[in-house]
Amino acid sequence: MKIRSDATLYSIGAVAIIGIISASYLAVKLQGKDLLIETLLQERNALLKEVNNSNAKLTLASTTIEELQTELDDLHEDLEDLADDYKDEKNRNEDFEDQIRALSGTLGDLDKLAKTDKELLAKYSKVYFLNENYTPTKLKEIDNRYILEGKKDQYFHASAIEHLEDMLKAASRDKIDLKVVSGYRSFDEQTDLKGQYTQVYGSGANTFSADQGYSEHQLGTTVDLSTPEVGGAYDSFANTEAYKWLQKNAYKYGFILSYPEGNSFYIFEPWHWRFVGTDLARDLDRSNDSFYDLDQRELDEYLLNFFD
Ligand code: DAL
Ligand code: ZN
Repeated sequence: MKIRSDATLYSIGAVAIIGIISASYLAVKLQGKDLLIETLLQERNALLKEVNNSNAKLTLASTTIEELQTELDDLHEDLEDLADDYKDEKNRNEDFEDQIRALSGTLGDLDKLAKTDKELLAKYSKVYFLNENYTPTKLKEIDNRYILEGKKDQYFHASAIEHLEDMLKAASRDKIDLKVVSGYRSFDEQTDLKGQYTQVYGSGANTFSADQGYSEHQLGTTVDLSTPEVGGAYDSFANTEAYKWLQKNAYKYGFILSYPEGNSFYIFEPWHWRFVGTDLARDLDRSNDSFYDLDQRELDEYLLNFFD
C-alpha cells in the first residue's frame, strides 16, 4: 500500500513539474508576442506621424501653389493691360503720324500752290488782262528743229517746255511734221503784231488777233502750230493730218485747242494750242468741253498739279 502511494506522489510531482515548465514556456512566448505587438504599434504610430507630417506639408504646398497661381493670373492680367496700353499708344502715335503727314502734305500743296502762277489758268480772251510787266517766271528756247523754217527763235515756259517737246517728238514718231510758228509773245510784241494786222484787216483783225494784254501767248504756255506744207497759221491747217493728230493726242501732253469752231471769242483757230496741264486737258477731252466753257473756279482747281 505504501509503495503505491509513493508512485502516486511521484506521478503527481512529475505532472506538476511538467505543468510548471509548460506554463513558464507559455509565459515566455506570450511575453515575446506582447513585445512584437508593442514594436509594431510603435512603428505604426511613427508611420502615422510621418503621414500627418506629409499631409501638413502637402496642404502647405497646395496653398503656396494656389497663391502662386493667383499671382501668375494677376501678372497675366497686368501684362494684358500693358499690351492694351501699348496698342492704344501705338494707335495714337500712328494717328499722330498720319496727321503730321497730312499736314505736311497740305503745307507742301499750299507751298506748291503759292509758287504756281495763278495767271496760267486764267481766261485771257477779252476777260482777264495781263499788264505790260507780266512775263512768265522763266522762258526757254524751243529746240530749233521744231521751229518752222524762216521763223525767228521761239520761247516757251521753262516748266512746261518738256510737255511741248514730248508732244512734238511723239508727232514726229507718227510721221507728223509739226512745227512751231509762234510761242511766247511779250506785251510789246503783241502790240506790234496787232498793229500790223489792224493796218491790213482793220477792225477785222479783232476776229483772230488779241489786243496786247489779252493774248494767251503772253503766258508763255501757248503755241501756234503748223506744218511745212501749210506754212503759217492758216485755216487750211484744219484739213491736215497734223491737226487730226493733235485733236486725238494733244490732251495727253496737256494741250487744248483754245478757240474751237463756234467759240464766242475769235474765229476757229486750229493752229492755236494752249498748255493747261495734263489733268485738265484730259478732263476736258473726256467731257468734250472747251477750256472757256468752264467756270474760273473750276479751272483754278487744276493749278496744284499744273506742271506735273
Ligand atoms: N490769235 C489769238 C487770239 C491771239 O492773238 O492770242
Ligand atoms: Zn495763237
